[in-house]
Amino acid sequence: MTLRILTAEQTYPIRHAVLRPGKPLADVIVHGDKDAFHLGIESDGTLVGVGSLFESSEDGKRCVRLRKLAVLISHQKRGLGGVLISALQDETRQRRVSRFWFDARMSAVGFYQRLGFEGYGTTFQKNDRTYIKMQKIL
Ligand SMILES: CC(C)(COP(=O)(O)OP(=O)(O)OC[C@H]1O[C@@H](n2cnc3c(N)ncnc32)[C@H](O)[C@@H]1OP(=O)(O)O)[C@@H](O)C(=O)NCCC(=O)NCCS
Repeated sequence: MTLRILTAEQTYPIRHAVLRPGKPLADVIVHGDKDAFHLGIESDGTLVGVGSLFESSEDGKRCVRLRKLAVLISHQKRGLGGVLISALQDETRQRRVSRFWFDARMSAVGFYQRLGFEGYGTTFQKNDRTYIKMQKIL
């Protein structure tokens, strides 16, 4: 298992296969991808998971938003998503940013709760799915 910094383009096949299968590839391209931080996880030399960090400022405070976390179905439930999140939190701490947040699919809330994230606000709909905002102060 190896972590690797990626370009935005290198994340697209995994994003597409896991998050928007059968939908246009353009659906997985995020505004700001060019300037974001992209991390991948390899198993036996093959890329099997990705996650991206987008830094912004809210109320004058820097924060980091996680987007497009995805592990191939064939490699889920083996700890790889947890390793990716841990490394992305380390990257955030190195930037001296404390708030790490994201929109979580309801189906993934249990995964994030195990890793110490808390939901806040009310649920909402996006692309026919229900989401809730989650965060951790690092
Ligand atoms: C969510 C996702 C990234 C998790 O990655 P993963 O590699 O399967 O997760 P891990 O194996 O590291 O799981 C860590 C822990 O969370 C648990 N877990 C994993 N997915 C879970 C889920 N959907 N709900 C509840 N618990 C979950 C695991 O059982 C494990 O628990 P343990 O430590 O007690 O064994 C992955 O399942 C995925 O890509 N899902 C589809 C896309 C998606 O939902 N992305 C997130 C969008 S917000």
